[in-house]
Amino acid sequence: MTLAIISAMPPELAALLAVLPTDQVQIVAGRKFHRGRLAGHDVVLGLSGIGKVAAAATAAILCERFAVRALMFTGVAGGLAEGVKVGDVVVGCECLQHDMDASPLFPRWEVPGTGRARFAADARWAGLLAQAAGQVLSQPHAALASFGIQAPQCHQGLVISGDRFVSSGAESLALRQALPDALAVEMEGAALAQVCADYGRPFAVLRTISDRADDQAHVDFPRFLADVAAEYSRDIVMAALALATA
Ligand code: ADE
Repeated sequence: MTLAIISAMPPELAALLAVLPTDQVQIVAGRKFHRGRLAGHDVVLGLSGIGKVAAAATAAILCERFAVRALMFTGVAGGLAEGVKVGDVVVGCECLQHDMDASPLFPRWEVPGTGRARFAADARWAGLLAQAAGQVLSQPHAALASFGIQAPQCHQGLVISGDRFVSSGAESLALRQALPDALAVEMEGAALAQVCADYGRPFAVLRTISDRADDQAHVDFPRFLADVAAEYSRDIVMAALALATA
């Protein structure tokens, strides 16, 4: 039984791909899927592309063609809740599509036909990722100081997704007011969650906060992705896989 690990953009998955020993590549729907073994688990690593449709298609491919037992999404997100800072890590316990709105036919955010807006992540994988993040964040990390990051924290809770890169103070305030318990915003997790619910597969979401989803000029997004976020994804996923076999 195989575990899928997905990111939207190449730099988000690069560090994890670099430690995948056997690299059997299969291309489906223009996406490269890399099969191998990590920390005693059969895994398939793949890039979805950015956005909910790309993530949903990728999740469906992984369920149909790779018979995965669980799916994990990792990459970056914008911090929403107060105290969720650049360099922190968020493990999604629930996911919601903030741009889903079929009202007045259905309540705002509810996915028509499912009776719900919030999709719960697998408690075991979320717990393992949070435990692993705690271990990794407590270790010194060479690149953090150059981004002015001190004592990064792991948060667990609601992650929201939509087909927008949130980059204005007004938009992020509107999201915080509408969904006060949302910790972070990104563009794929809740789409993965919906497809996983359809297929009855557990899922988990692990995000490093790259920005505050506002109009502040970001430090250096590509360098942050490569030097911090990709390394956190690798180290936290590897630690969680090791905990899962322990
Ligand atoms: N991923 C990283 N930062 C984001 C943001 N501000 N909005 C949406 N997705 C993101």
